Amino acid sequence: MATDKRLAGEESTTLLAAKDLSGAISRTPEELANIVSLFAMSDGWMDKVRLRAERRWYERLYHGPDHDIWAISWLPGQSTGFHDHGASSGGFVVATGILEEQRPDEGARVIYPGKPQAFGPGYTHDVRNVSLAPAISIHAYSPPLSEMNEYELDGSRLVLRERASGTAETLDQKWRVQRGEPVDRTGALNIEQMLSAARARLRRLSPDEAYEAVAKTAAILVDIRPKSQRAIEGSIAGALVVERNVLEWRFDPASDTRLPVATDHDLQVIVFCSEGYTSSLAAAALKDLGLCRATDMVGGFHAWRATGLPIMPPRRASQDRSC
Ligand SMILES: [Fe+2]
Repeated sequence: MATDKRLAGEESTTLLAAKDLSGAISRTPEELANIVSLFAMSDGWMDKVRLRAERRWYERLYHGPDHDIWAISWLPGQSTGFHDHGASSGGFVVATGILEEQRPDEGARVIYPGKPQAFGPGYTHDVRNVSLAPAISIHAYSPPLSEMNEYELDGSRLVLRERASGTAETLDQKWRVQRGEPVDRTGALNIEQMLSAARARLRRLSPDEAYEAVAKTAAILVDIRPKSQRAIEGSIAGALVVERNVLEWRFDPASDTRLPVATDHDLQVIVFCSEGYTSSLAAAALKDLGLCRATDMVGGFHAWRATGLPIMPPRRASQDRSC
């Protein structure tokens, strides 16, 4: 993996390794914070991230002798519960979205993108997404995470949660990659079914078709990615930025906070996100508001870029129009 090679090379010159009493090399919390920051800024890993409605999605993206690196996605409402990380130190950074961390005896604090956090062995916390948009975070542990313990809050005291086996659960057992198993609740849809239902209502456009629609008609291209993701990936010149959490309010012609352009249910809104998943759900929500021509772009920004259509590189992403 290109990211692994980059990190390995940079670590040899910029990061210091330390040996503990057993002779094993371990990273300090500060080094882990540096590692997650470098990894979050590297290319390639974002394509591996998936969103899962049933539970958080997670995957180990790098496993070295002295540390490992994980990506975790968080839909609104998803949380870890109180847990520790065994004997591992850790660092994590929010790549996109916003998370909240709760520690015992402390108030909750917001974790903003690009602000790496670090901790030593025995650290307990509960991390959750209390925002209205998905979040993605990068985590590193040293030594590589092999054990976690879960706790329940009894007043202000943490109580170790009992496990039938009586032994600590390994991360691989607990944090295996989720593959979209169906939800065992009568009448409920899992996210794959929800996505299929949304797309069945849309005539989705390829990047070329979206480009042509904007060039030749009154269609408008709408970027619903969060600012942090635009900053990483870049933007499309002329696209209107309306982040997902305010989309319906900006395009409902009856809304007091609608955009000036949103006066007519006939408006053709072409929504795009990073890879074309969230955008399908967003376009279906616009259809629910009566915007009968709303749709989204297949493959999102990544497909637009891969097609060779013009983009603004990441360094200019902060200059786009946000509504
Ligand atoms: Fe944690």
